[in-house]
Amino acid sequence: MNDAVLSPPPPGAPGGPRVLLEVFGCQMNKLDAELMVRALRKAGYDFTDRDEEADAVLLVTCSIRDQAEHRVRSHLGTLSVQKRERPHLAVGVLGCMAQREGRDLLDRWPALDFVAGTRDFPQVASILDRVRADAVRVLAVDGDPLVPEDRDLAVRPDRARAFVNVMRGCDKPCTYCVVPRTRGPELGRPMVDIVAEVSALVDDGVVEVTLLGQTVNAWGRREGRSLGELLYRLQELPGLQRLRFITSHPEEMDEVLIRAMADCDKCGLFLHLPPQSGSSSVLRRMARGYTAERYREIAAQLRAAIPGVQIGADLIAGFCGETDADHALSLQLLRDVRFSQAFCFRYSPRPGTPAFGRLRDDVPEAVKRRRLLELQALQNEIQLKRHRGMVGEVHRVLVEGGSQRRPELLFGRNLAFDRIVFDGGARAADLAGRFADVRITSATALTLTGSIVAAEPAPSSSPSDRAQVAHVAALA
Ligand code: 5AD
Ligand code: SF4
Repeated sequence: MNDAVLSPPPPGAPGGPRVLLEVFGCQMNKLDAELMVRALRKAGYDFTDRDEEADAVLLVTCSIRDQAEHRVRSHLGTLSVQKRERPHLAVGVLGCMAQREGRDLLDRWPALDFVAGTRDFPQVASILDRVRADAVRVLAVDGDPLVPEDRDLAVRPDRARAFVNVMRGCDKPCTYCVVPRTRGPELGRPMVDIVAEVSALVDDGVVEVTLLGQTVNAWGRREGRSLGELLYRLQELPGLQRLRFITSHPEEMDEVLIRAMADCDKCGLFLHLPPQSGSSSVLRRMARGYTAERYREIAAQLRAAIPGVQIGADLIAGFCGETDADHALSLQLLRDVRFSQAFCFRYSPRPGTPAFGRLRDDVPEAVKRRRLLELQALQNEIQLKRHRGMVGEVHRVLVEGGSQRRPELLFGRNLAFDRIVFDGGARAADLAGRFADVRITSATALTLTGSIVAAEPAPSSSPSDRAQVAHVAALA
């Protein structure tokens, strides 16, 4: 997770009032921001990435941990000062924090003009129009759960890659998590709509699609379907070359999905499957619905069915009642499963969650911090070993972009979602959005560095990714 001003700003309506859109949190928020760009642009707004030029600043917020909300609060502090000098500046908070806090936010921040929740952002332009014209303050947190997924191909931030929502909301009972409260109940999109959207994106040059859902692998469950069926269907689209999906819940892994991942050669060899803890008693208090043994079984099943698949983890350190012995079990899970990446977090109690009301946040902050560092140090060791073993291999990467300070320094991801940095040389500017074969020359725990072996003339003419793996293996 990261936060960013949309930079460079997306194309807007030239000459219109300028909006600075700042996005915090997950991919879901980034995609929502893209839908907002469409609505604002249609209503005549332009965009900027410079504070001093902005007529409106919109913060698309995240509530997952207190730290994420803290960043927004400090931003609102700065904006309050700016607004004293520029009273015409409109300020809006959207997304999860807006949904969670609603009216309290307006009460606490006099500089704030509107608050719009996770299902209200499609109305962002009309809300902003009202705020600017009538100097009213607006609270909108009761939007229709059926959020229209209208997108405008012209405002896509990345020509080669796109996120596609397959499901909004979450029905899981995880006791630490605020998402069911901020994003509401689970609502899947029909397969025909998803296929139509992916087809339109692919016709417009997209080669990699990432399907998004809070519990993406629960897609279709209510109708007795599996996400695997959707993968098989999307695999048939000519022009699409890579297919990913995030985030999966271990309890929702099913045979069809695992088979689809094995059969569909466009499907990435990476599964983000957060265990959250390696201790079954902590998992029970988290209401995750599986034990640590069951998690190991699923990981083993995936590895047996899908050669080369990598698994990514999220782990929480210091959840309510976590003992040193529980923590040792989380360390053991890292050793046993050998994740290719693991995001580790200190437990942050979130108001409104079941744990907040029922369980005591009894692990001292210093202990949480120590456990977090131990998880991270062990994961670094594991990653370093894996990365060192990859030196000399040639990997096919989809080039995502270049470093801001050194644009010739490119980065991209291979099929297993490893990020590889390499020097694109004189051709660097042409390579974004294209596939390149890169030989890995050095490795640290966090970075794989390589040198380019070959680049493809045009992404849309390439065969599927896994078909290229044989070719890449031959180069190695
Ligand atoms: N405290 C700490 N980490 C959390 N996550 C979710 N809720 C919390 C919380 N209250 C982590 C989980 C999840 C990731 C997106 O954030 O690991 O998978
Ligand atoms: Fe943050 Fe979760 Fe909301 Fe995404 S869905 S913005 S991670 S709270």
